[in-house]
Amino acid sequence: MKNITVLVSGSGSNLQRIIDGVENGDIPNARVSLVVADRECFALQRAENHGIKNILIKRGKDFSSELGKIIPENTDLIVLAGFLSILNREFCESFQGKIINIHPALLPKFGGKGMWGHHVHQAVLASGEKESGATVHFVTSGVDEGEIILQKSFEISDTETLESLSEKIHKIEFEIFPQAINSVLNRV
Ligand code: GRF
Repeated sequence: MKNITVLVSGSGSNLQRIIDGVENGDIPNARVSLVVADRECFALQRAENHGIKNILIKRGKDFSSELGKIIPENTDLIVLAGFLSILNREFCESFQGKIINIHPALLPKFGGKGMWGHHVHQAVLASGEKESGATVHFVTSGVDEGEIILQKSFEISDTETLESLSEKIHKIEFEIFPQAINSVLNRV
Protein backbone atom coordinates (compact mmCIF):
# COMPACT_ATOMS: atom_id res chain seq x y z
CA MET A 1 0.00 0.00 0.00
CA LYS A 2 1.44 3.34 -1.08
CA ASN A 3 1.07 6.41 1.16
CA ILE A 4 0.15 9.75 -0.33
CA THR A 5 0.37 13.15 1.38
CA VAL A 6 -1.70 15.85 -0.31
CA LEU A 7 -0.93 19.57 0.06
CA VAL A 8 -3.82 22.00 -0.41
CA SER A 9 -4.78 25.67 -0.14
CA GLY A 10 -8.26 25.91 -1.59
CA SER A 11 -11.57 24.26 -2.25
CA GLY A 12 -9.94 20.88 -2.71
CA SER A 13 -11.96 19.47 -5.58
CA ASN A 14 -8.81 17.76 -6.85
CA LEU A 15 -8.18 16.39 -3.37
CA GLN A 16 -11.75 15.05 -3.45
CA ARG A 17 -11.05 13.39 -6.80
CA ILE A 18 -7.99 11.70 -5.32
CA ILE A 19 -9.87 10.53 -2.22
CA ASP A 20 -12.70 9.23 -4.41
CA GLY A 21 -10.17 7.59 -6.75
CA VAL A 22 -8.57 5.74 -3.86
CA GLU A 23 -12.01 4.65 -2.64
CA ASN A 24 -13.38 3.56 -6.04
CA GLY A 25 -10.23 1.83 -7.30
CA ASP A 26 -9.15 4.42 -9.89
CA ILE A 27 -6.01 4.79 -7.75
CA PRO A 28 -5.39 1.24 -6.53
CA ASN A 29 -3.14 0.11 -3.68
CA ALA A 30 -2.80 3.59 -2.26
CA ARG A 31 -4.23 5.71 0.50
CA VAL A 32 -4.23 9.37 1.42
CA SER A 33 -2.52 9.23 4.79
CA LEU A 34 -2.19 12.96 5.40
CA VAL A 35 -3.56 16.26 4.11
CA VAL A 36 -1.64 19.46 4.89
CA ALA A 37 -2.96 22.96 4.21
CA ASP A 38 -1.05 26.23 4.36
CA ARG A 39 -4.21 28.22 5.21
CA GLU A 40 -7.76 27.60 6.40
CA CYS A 41 -9.62 26.10 3.45
CA PHE A 42 -12.48 23.80 2.54
CA ALA A 43 -10.03 21.07 1.51
CA LEU A 44 -9.30 20.44 5.22
CA GLN A 45 -12.99 19.77 5.77
CA ARG A 46 -13.01 17.30 2.88
CA ALA A 47 -10.16 15.37 4.51
CA GLU A 48 -11.95 15.46 7.86
CA ASN A 49 -15.15 14.13 6.22
CA HIS A 50 -13.22 11.05 5.12
CA GLY A 51 -11.44 10.52 8.43
CA ILE A 52 -8.08 11.53 6.95
CA LYS A 53 -5.53 13.11 9.26
CA ASN A 54 -5.26 16.80 8.38
CA ILE A 55 -2.97 19.53 9.59
CA LEU A 56 -2.73 23.27 9.06
CA ILE A 57 0.76 24.78 8.92
CA LYS A 58 0.56 28.53 8.44
CA ARG A 59 2.15 29.76 5.24
CA GLY A 60 5.43 31.60 5.61
CA LYS A 61 9.14 31.08 5.42
CA ASP A 62 9.15 28.13 7.83
CA PHE A 63 6.48 26.17 5.99
CA SER A 64 8.83 23.75 4.20
CA SER A 65 10.88 22.92 7.27
CA GLU A 66 7.74 22.46 9.43
CA LEU A 67 6.31 20.20 6.75
CA GLY A 68 9.56 18.24 6.61
CA LYS A 69 9.22 17.56 10.34
CA ILE A 70 5.69 16.16 10.24
CA ILE A 71 5.59 14.29 6.97
CA PRO A 72 5.35 10.55 7.66
CA GLU A 73 8.55 8.66 6.92
CA ASN A 74 6.70 6.09 4.83
CA THR A 75 5.35 8.74 2.42
CA ASP A 76 5.71 7.50 -1.18
CA LEU A 77 4.28 10.53 -2.93
CA ILE A 78 3.54 14.18 -2.14
CA VAL A 79 0.76 15.60 -4.28
CA LEU A 80 0.19 19.34 -4.61
CA ALA A 81 -3.50 19.76 -5.38
CA GLY A 82 -4.30 23.46 -5.59
CA PHE A 83 -1.44 24.33 -3.24
CA LEU A 84 -0.23 27.92 -3.29
CA SER A 85 2.97 28.10 -1.22
CA ILE A 86 6.34 27.54 -2.82
CA LEU A 87 8.35 24.68 -1.31
CA ASN A 88 11.99 25.55 -0.67
CA ARG A 89 14.96 24.03 -2.46
CA GLU A 90 15.99 21.84 0.47
CA PHE A 91 12.53 20.27 0.70
CA CYS A 92 12.26 19.74 -3.07
CA GLU A 93 15.68 18.12 -3.17
CA SER A 94 15.07 15.80 -0.25
CA PHE A 95 11.87 14.49 -1.90
CA GLN A 96 13.16 14.63 -5.47
CA GLY A 97 11.02 12.57 -7.87
CA LYS A 98 8.34 12.17 -5.21
CA ILE A 99 6.50 15.52 -5.44
CA ILE A 100 4.01 16.28 -8.19
CA ASN A 101 1.79 19.26 -8.94
CA ILE A 102 -1.21 19.95 -11.14
CA HIS A 103 -1.20 23.19 -13.13
CA PRO A 104 -4.24 24.61 -14.93
CA ALA A 105 -2.54 25.31 -18.28
CA LEU A 106 -0.29 23.72 -20.86
CA LEU A 107 3.18 24.15 -19.34
CA PRO A 108 5.76 25.41 -20.12
CA LYS A 109 3.41 28.21 -21.18
CA PHE A 110 1.56 30.17 -18.47
CA GLY A 111 3.60 28.91 -15.52
CA GLY A 112 5.86 30.43 -12.89
CA LYS A 113 5.44 32.66 -9.85
CA GLY A 114 2.06 34.39 -9.62
CA MET A 115 0.54 32.10 -12.25
CA TRP A 116 -2.20 30.35 -10.36
CA GLY A 117 -5.98 30.00 -10.58
CA HIS A 118 -7.76 32.84 -12.34
CA HIS A 119 -4.46 34.59 -13.12
CA VAL A 120 -3.62 31.71 -15.43
CA HIS A 121 -7.06 31.66 -17.07
CA GLN A 122 -6.99 35.43 -17.57
CA ALA A 123 -3.55 35.29 -19.17
CA VAL A 124 -4.58 32.43 -21.45
CA LEU A 125 -7.72 34.25 -22.63
CA ALA A 126 -5.86 37.54 -23.12
CA SER A 127 -3.16 35.83 -25.17
CA GLY A 128 -5.53 34.62 -27.85
CA GLU A 129 -4.22 31.04 -27.51
CA LYS A 130 -6.22 28.49 -29.48
CA GLU A 131 -5.99 25.80 -26.81
CA SER A 132 -5.53 25.29 -23.11
CA GLY A 133 -5.53 22.32 -20.77
CA ALA A 134 -3.88 20.96 -17.66
CA THR A 135 -0.47 19.58 -16.81
CA VAL A 136 0.80 17.25 -14.10
CA HIS A 137 4.53 17.67 -13.51
CA PHE A 138 7.27 16.88 -11.03
CA VAL A 139 8.03 19.63 -8.53
CA THR A 140 11.52 21.04 -8.41
CA SER A 141 12.76 24.25 -6.80
CA GLY A 142 12.11 26.11 -10.08
CA VAL A 143 8.41 27.05 -10.00
CA ASP A 144 6.44 24.97 -12.57
CA GLU A 145 9.66 23.87 -14.23
CA GLY A 146 9.86 20.15 -13.38
CA GLU A 147 9.49 17.33 -15.90
CA ILE A 148 6.01 16.95 -17.37
CA ILE A 149 4.27 13.68 -16.51
CA LEU A 150 0.95 14.11 -18.27
CA GLN A 151 -0.84 16.84 -20.17
CA LYS A 152 -4.19 17.09 -21.90
CA SER A 153 -5.50 19.92 -24.02
CA PHE A 154 -8.77 21.17 -25.49
CA GLU A 155 -9.70 23.83 -28.01
CA ILE A 156 -10.68 27.25 -26.63
CA SER A 157 -14.05 28.34 -28.02
CA ASP A 158 -14.84 31.84 -29.32
CA THR A 159 -17.28 32.37 -26.46
CA GLU A 160 -14.95 31.12 -23.71
CA THR A 161 -15.18 32.91 -20.34
CA LEU A 162 -13.09 32.60 -17.19
CA GLU A 163 -15.78 30.39 -15.70
CA SER A 164 -16.15 28.08 -18.69
CA LEU A 165 -12.38 27.77 -19.03
CA SER A 166 -11.97 26.93 -15.37
CA GLU A 167 -14.77 24.36 -15.56
CA LYS A 168 -13.26 22.62 -18.61
CA ILE A 169 -9.84 22.56 -16.97
CA HIS A 170 -11.16 21.02 -13.77
CA LYS A 171 -12.79 18.26 -15.84
CA ILE A 172 -9.47 17.53 -17.50
CA GLU A 173 -7.67 17.66 -14.16
CA PHE A 174 -10.02 15.08 -12.68
CA GLU A 175 -9.17 12.85 -15.64
CA ILE A 176 -5.38 13.16 -15.77
CA PHE A 177 -4.52 13.54 -12.07
CA PRO A 178 -5.38 9.95 -11.07
CA GLN A 179 -3.61 8.65 -14.19
CA ALA A 180 -0.47 10.63 -13.41
CA ILE A 181 -0.55 9.55 -9.75
CA ASN A 182 -0.77 5.90 -10.79
CA SER A 183 2.07 6.25 -13.23
CA VAL A 184 4.35 7.86 -10.62
CA LEU A 185 3.33 5.38 -7.89
CA ASN A 186 4.35 2.57 -10.20
CA ARG A 187 7.82 4.08 -10.41
CA VAL A 188 8.52 4.93 -6.72
C1 GRF B 1 -6.71 23.63 -9.92
O1 GRF B 1 -7.19 24.20 -11.10
C2 GRF B 1 -5.23 23.37 -9.99
O2 GRF B 1 -4.75 23.18 -11.28
C3 GRF B 1 -4.65 24.64 -9.48
O3 GRF B 1 -5.54 25.11 -8.51
C4 GRF B 1 -6.84 24.58 -8.76
C5 GRF B 1 -7.26 23.92 -7.50
O4 GRF B 1 -8.61 23.62 -7.46
N1 GRF B 1 -3.29 24.42 -9.07
P1 GRF B 1 -9.19 22.72 -6.29
O5 GRF B 1 -8.79 23.34 -4.97
O6 GRF B 1 -8.61 21.34 -6.45
O7 GRF B 1 -10.67 22.73 -6.48
